[in-house]
Amino acid sequence: MSGTTRQQSWKIQTELPVEYEIVETHDLLNPGNPDLLTVPGGGRGTGTRLVILDHSVDELYGAKIRTYFSENDVPVDYLTLPGSEENKSIERVLEVVNKLNEVGTNRLSSPPIVIGGGVVADVVGLAASLYRRGIPFVRVPTTLLGQVDVSVAAKSGINYGGYRNRLGAYTPPPRTLIDRSFLATVPRRQLRNGMGEIFKMALIKDLRLFELLEEYGAELIEARFQDPGPGEGPAAAVADEVIGRAIAGMAEELQPNLWEKDLQRSVDYGHSFSPLVEMRALPELLHGEAVAMDCVFSALLAAGRGLIDDDQFTRIVAVARRMGLAPSHPLFCDVELVLEGLADTVLHRDGKQNLPILTAIGEVCFLNDVSEDEIERACAGMGRLLGTGAGRAGQRVGADR
Ligand SMILES: NC(=O)c1ccc[n+]([C@@H]2O[C@H](COP(=O)([O-])OP(=O)(O)OC[C@H]3O[C@@H](n4cnc5c(N)ncnc54)[C@H](O)[C@@H]3O)[C@@H](O)[C@H]2O)c1
Ligand SMILES: [Zn+2]
Repeated sequence: MSGTTRQQSWKIQTELPVEYEIVETHDLLNPGNPDLLTVPGGGRGTGTRLVILDHSVDELYGAKIRTYFSENDVPVDYLTLPGSEENKSIERVLEVVNKLNEVGTNRLSSPPIVIGGGVVADVVGLAASLYRRGIPFVRVPTTLLGQVDVSVAAKSGINYGGYRNRLGAYTPPPRTLIDRSFLATVPRRQLRNGMGEIFKMALIKDLRLFELLEEYGAELIEARFQDPGPGEGPAAAVADEVIGRAIAGMAEELQPNLWEKDLQRSVDYGHSFSPLVEMRALPELLHGEAVAMDCVFSALLAAGRGLIDDDQFTRIVAVARRMGLAPSHPLFCDVELVLEGLADTVLHRDGKQNLPILTAIGEVCFLNDVSEDEIERACAGMGRLLGTGAGRAGQRVGADR
């Protein structure tokens, strides 16, 4: 051996092409519709398919789903899981893993199918990403939030240690199927919840979508996004356009930054202060409700800096209210809590605020120098919105300046 130590190193470099699709379908549970059977890559696959159902979906559509698979003579096994945020847990992930073992799911050719809201989609998404280090699955979102937001997501996550989505993975299902008719049974509060995410999308990049919400948002919720009878509610084309624009906007934002290497993400609008508020308020606030409040809070920051004017702010609050989304909550007036939420967000954004802030309805910039004073003023603004008096035309926003 010579006296010099030579350090050897090996480098592995590869690329991972990612392709997944979101497909609109109609009458998905009609046994004649093959969409639910087709496995990614084509054909019907082999082996038993595990079908994971959200408990409400099982109650409402379970018989139809069972008829669908039996009429198509496809071997299936079922697992029913509860929806709602408290169930986005590691225990539920392991329940899915155990069931995959029991069923004997093939590594590629019998992808499990998850039919339900964002919670079961996230639980199954994480289980599928862990199982044998990753198996494909098929996602069928049945809530509005699921259809416009989770549908496009590459990632899955569960709550842990008091934090939202603390554990998760980036493993998009190759196929997501969207059938608007599932929304017919979704409670209106849950539809408003989904509207919270559509509202965010409109604010960051789509003035036309904002105008659609302004004009039809309330009626769409009333009609549960279903095709109207003669002379009733907004046309089916409006429901399709609102859902379509929200999905397209999300896809456009995610594609160039799917692995979130760039932590300046406009889709994080509404998600800067809300995660901690949402967790602290559990189970009182739904995700989209907290997001809508954060959208307003962030708009207060923008107004405080003169980036948007009072009329724009008033319009934003009015649209939220018209859709039945409260613009504020006492937790958003709690300066300490909001600062704590921001501190965790800064960790999530690798040490930077990267706060998406509106420069107009439909446009954002990013700020990294928002001060505690500004947060305090925005909290005070949220306090005024708790009553009925604030947010009206003429009211000076950020009036504590
Ligand atoms: N993976 C991602 O990138 C991503 C993106 C956005 C949101 N999410 C997650 O999604 C979750 C929220 O999803 P959600 O709003 O769908 O909540 P959810 O899954 O809890 O569903 C809401 C309620 O609706 C019920 N339900 C589902 N479909 C129904 C139907 N067709 N008819 C009647 N009731 C029905 C459910 O049982 C539940 O009680 C959050 O945990 C959020 O973090 C994930
Ligand atoms: Zn969200």
